[in-house]
Amino acid sequence: MSGLATEYNAVNLGQGFPDFPMNHELTTLVAEAMKNNFNQYPPMPGWMPLREAIAEKVAFLYQTKINPDTEITITPGGTYAIYSSLTAILQPGDEVIVFEPGYDSYVPNVEINGAKAITINLVYPGYHIDWAAVQNAITSKTKAIIINSPHNPTGSVIGEEDIKQLRKITAGTNIFIISDEVYEHLIFDNIPHQSILRYPDLLERSFVCFSFGKTYNCTGWKLGYCIAPATLTKEFRKVHQFNCFSCHTPSQVGLAMFLKNKKAYLSLPSFMQEKRDYFKQLMQQTRFTMQESFGSYFICGSYERISDEADKDLAIRLTKEAGVATIPVSAFYQNGKDDKVLRFCFSKKKETLEAAVEKLIRV
Ligand SMILES: Cc1ncc(COP(=O)(O)O)c(C=O)c1O
Repeated sequence: MSGLATEYNAVNLGQGFPDFPMNHELTTLVAEAMKNNFNQYPPMPGWMPLREAIAEKVAFLYQTKINPDTEITITPGGTYAIYSSLTAILQPGDEVIVFEPGYDSYVPNVEINGAKAITINLVYPGYHIDWAAVQNAITSKTKAIIINSPHNPTGSVIGEEDIKQLRKITAGTNIFIISDEVYEHLIFDNIPHQSILRYPDLLERSFVCFSFGKTYNCTGWKLGYCIAPATLTKEFRKVHQFNCFSCHTPSQVGLAMFLKNKKAYLSLPSFMQEKRDYFKQLMQQTRFTMQESFGSYFICGSYERISDEADKDLAIRLTKEAGVATIPVSAFYQNGKDDKVLRFCFSKKKETLEAAVEKLIRV
């Protein structure tokens, strides 16, 4: 859709990336690190001061003690952290439970390891997890469950009840949890983020994956990290060692200092919530019916009052004819399930959101 948006000069609310500048203090810190000659390979697991800063942040946010030496690995992005986690544990024939709609890398990452993705639909509307369906899907081959909160593409979030169910279903099993928490700080309405890091019994069997790109509005940096218990991190690093080996040094040096600034990450939820509220309010002028978004920088809109065409067809037509690119939510299902819903990214400048809505009003 981004390619089509460029071709038709459309306002791009499709792909998930901010169109506003990132924090200058952070770019300055990274530039200084480069000038100060932090330009050679860092250690394989990552720049130690950054890992220490992450451990401090986790202790502050989730009251959990993480060992920066043995339990944190810096990665080139969240996607890579998820891929490496899966590759560390999967054997051909294993099954992995994946919720749909879901981030598009999960299923290919499972399949490339010779394993099978068992997809379970989130319950529409609201896109919550049907835990009875999860229980029914568990077999002796189930190796892992991938969860993602706040959720791409729907903006749903998991609550305490979900954690309770996850705990119940995985207790006494060898099932691993891959928790994709790249939108950790983009959660709204004062809802607490249910990080797996809060729950030592779940963390014991988990790989928890994060993305600096999503947190600090620099998706092009492709930098993130994985937190997992020492035994699992050891396996994770066997994959990492001969794949990427290590990540961009100056960014890690800059981030190590920037992470000490609590205000910078504590202010993120309200910053993005304001964008969600502004976009939702603007969209009331259109014939889209916007759904709830409690987190991430996405919101879904139903177009039942506009058309009954397939979501993919409408998304293409909107890009070409109305000049606004979105993503059809069917793209996040293996079987192309079409709930007649489009995903909009609201992590944009006010002017961008206004320009898009001005065009959508005419649809
Ligand atoms: C749910 C989810 N996980 C992971 C990622 C990717 O993170 P990164 O760019 O750090 O690889 C994205 C990006 O869109 C995402 O939406």
